[in-house]
Amino acid sequence: MLARARTFTIEGLHARAVTVEVDIRPGLPAFAIVGLADAAVREARDRVHAAVLNSGYEFPARRITANLAPADVPKVGPGFDLAIACGVLAASGQIPVDLLDTHALFGELSLDGEVRASHGTLAVAEATMKAGLRMLVLGPARAREATLVEGLAVGVVERLSSAVRVLSGGAPDPLPQPSRPPLRSAARRQPDLGDVRGQPEAVRALTIAAAGAHNSLLSGPPGTGKTMLAQRLPSILPPLERSEAIEVMRIHSVTGRLTGGELLSERPFRAPHHSITTAGLIGGARRGWVGEVVLAHNGVLFLDELSEFARPTLEALRQPLEDGRVAIVRARHSAVYPARFMLMAATNPCPCGYAGEDERCRCSEADLARHRRRLSGPLLDRIDLLVTMERAAVDHIGGELATSSAHVREQVIEARERQAARLREEGILVNAQMDARMLRRHVKLDEGGKRVLAASRERGLLSARGQHRALRVARTIADLERSERVKHEHLASAFSLRPEAGLSGRRAA
Ligand SMILES: Nc1ncnc2c1ncn2[C@@H]1O[C@H](COP(=O)(O)OP(=O)(O)OP(=O)(O)O)[C@@H](O)[C@H]1O
Ligand SMILES: [Mg+2]
Repeated sequence: MLARARTFTIEGLHARAVTVEVDIRPGLPAFAIVGLADAAVREARDRVHAAVLNSGYEFPARRITANLAPADVPKVGPGFDLAIACGVLAASGQIPVDLLDTHALFGELSLDGEVRASHGTLAVAEATMKAGLRMLVLGPARAREATLVEGLAVGVVERLSSAVRVLSGGAPDPLPQPSRPPLRSAARRQPDLGDVRGQPEAVRALTIAAAGAHNSLLSGPPGTGKTMLAQRLPSILPPLERSEAIEVMRIHSVTGRLTGGELLSERPFRAPHHSITTAGLIGGARRGWVGEVVLAHNGVLFLDELSEFARPTLEALRQPLEDGRVAIVRARHSAVYPARFMLMAATNPCPCGYAGEDERCRCSEADLARHRRRLSGPLLDRIDLLVTMERAAVDHIGGELATSSAHVREQVIEARERQAARLREEGILVNAQMDARMLRRHVKLDEGGKRVLAASRERGLLSARGQHRALRVARTIADLERSERVKHEHLASAFSLRPEAGLSGRRAA
């Protein structure tokens, strides 16, 4: 007899429908799984066999073939166990076949018949909904993840026997309680901008960067608080919107990070060490293994000590910075992952760290040029603004404390709302993503602003790219000041935050 069960396989961040066809016919006892299955799927044979027997059902002593269709789609992971087991039980007449057609089954089986969670539950839940199936039947551990898909019926089954009950028309097991997020607020206070003393210009620049999601470079001598400031960026960013949170959780889900099933609100903040490899940063080392740029999607990628990163590794950032995604192509698989993040980089202004403090800097012109070359080019081209940290301004004890993160965050959120209202029709939400055409449309300069721009053009001070960067930043400064028009003082501040200035060994004008 033949039975068909419905399940899914993970491809990149999405799930593809797979039908498990189980055929049982007379012959010597055998159990074969066919259909481009990876090692984990082939091992399903032994798990399914044991789980069926240990749950008190009969494992037919005949010739059993389980075919995973379509045959040309590679099947990965252990999530097929439940569908294969139910297919075997249905094909041998131990459960009715009709609900198998409308219920998706997803999960790994333990030898004693317990249903375990599999990576990618959120993607599978979305695909179940899209396929118009009536219910997703899965183990309890990640079931809350599936409930994020609005309108989807989620049937929790703790054991294979519960799945048999559900497929015979019975009720599922109870949905587990939401797991508490790690006691973060109580145990570990998030770093707050209010801890920073002095540095008002740097705090202001960080605010602008956060408000427009501008890729930024922090430059300054050692000990001036670059790392300190960057670590406080997440505390002033707006919370994730629902659709953004789902994207982040889909990434967490597929890569096996626990999500707890509650909607995330905090943006990701990834700070890989400078010894990271290109594969570690971009991804693709192993199948389904994503890089830091993907984990930073909808959040921040912080590269501290930028000049210490290997040059090819930095070069590889070009595609995600440009397109907001990475394509991983390998011999046996390829996948596209979202990677739209805000880059925050920190560096000393020169190899010794003291450029700008003339008598202290020991670097030769050649040293300075080498340092500049390391960072310049494609990467610097995609950095909108420079945050300069100056030693003179630092007095860790005496300086005035900066405004609290909560207060700055309010300003950032308001500025983002202005941007979103203006840009939503363009399909983007933040100024940093405006292209040349959008800049022409949405940056209306006053007379003074036009003069400032024309003068910089005449003197050949800025490349076309440089001008675009300045206009984007000026738009954000105007948004922070609730001005629809971009005034010349906005443009002038934007010019003073030019990233090139951070590497010249001189201070920004
Ligand atoms: N403006 C500041 N307000 C309060 N504390 C500060 C400030 N700047 C620096 N500090 C203190 O000095 C320490 C060192 O700062 P931080 O590590 O951020 O410097 P850095 O610029 O990243 O230096 P390096 O170039 O060596 O990495 C911080 O942990 C902090 O305690
Ligand atoms: Mg540092």
